[in-house]
Amino acid sequence: MSDTPLLELVGATRTVQGRDLVSDVNLCLHEGEMLGIIGPNGSGKSTLLSMMAGLLPPSRGEIRLAGQPMARLRRQQIARRLAMVSQSADTGDRISVRDAVELGRTPWLGPLRPWSARDDEAVEAALLAVGMDRMAARDWSTLSGGERQRVHIARAHAQAPQILLLDEPTNHLDIHHQFAILDLVSQLPVTTVIALHDMHHALRCDRVMVMQSGRCVALGAPLDILTPALIRRIFAVDARLIAHPADGLPLFAFQRLA
Ligand SMILES: Nc1ncnc2c1ncn2[C@@H]1O[C@H](COP(=O)(O)OP(=O)(O)O)[C@@H](O)[C@H]1O
Ligand SMILES: [Mg+2]
Repeated sequence: MSDTPLLELVGATRTVQGRDLVSDVNLCLHEGEMLGIIGPNGSGKSTLLSMMAGLLPPSRGEIRLAGQPMARLRRQQIARRLAMVSQSADTGDRISVRDAVELGRTPWLGPLRPWSARDDEAVEAALLAVGMDRMAARDWSTLSGGERQRVHIARAHAQAPQILLLDEPTNHLDIHHQFAILDLVSQLPVTTVIALHDMHHALRCDRVMVMQSGRCVALGAPLDILTPALIRRIFAVDARLIAHPADGLPLFAFQRLA
């Protein structure tokens, strides 16, 4: 292990038509951590994740992957280290679940490196990790939203990245599958950045970054950051921390501001 951060953002800014969608974000991702990004709609979470994934170049500042400026890396070099599950990732193609997960192996293949047993193993392990191994032959179009989300994560897992970027992976899922996805992600042996809406999900992260109007307005341990004052300021709701009646763990009670 070296001291070079896996992913580093220095003054990362993205300007479109004179407007900063992401403004001056500084971040050093800790190896093995789960970093949650929360913020109101339109605060720049998806834009920031796309910048971290190397899909959108910063207009100012720099993003470094394992010490290398992202702008100088080839797509394949990035994809060997980093996988992204986008907010509305979908496919119109008629493909099976296994086909979708096999796509994750693309960065590791080449003229001198054809598909091998190693790739089959990675795909099997990924399908197993998300509990989709028995559905490998199913047609993608027949899957439910939660199953699709699991397959997206399996595809990213098969890619064997060091960093996993997830944009609101629990959206449109019922409460059971929200927990299942979060449990799954937190068990994966990768460094994770996850955009979230649910503040209770954010409590499960190692650190939380709060975005507002493209800026990082707070970064730190969830309970240090998600204070009633900050939640009131950013989300315009009253929030109180209470103890869960069963295990005493912290919970938010929200109320509309009077
Ligand atoms: N390609 C684009 N051109 C212009 N504005 C954009 C573009 N992409 C996103 N935006 C705007 O940037 C802001 C941040 O969007 P986004 O990153 O999607 O926020 P979030 O994911 O937090 O909801 C929004 O106001 C959105 O309308
Ligand atoms: Mg978004």
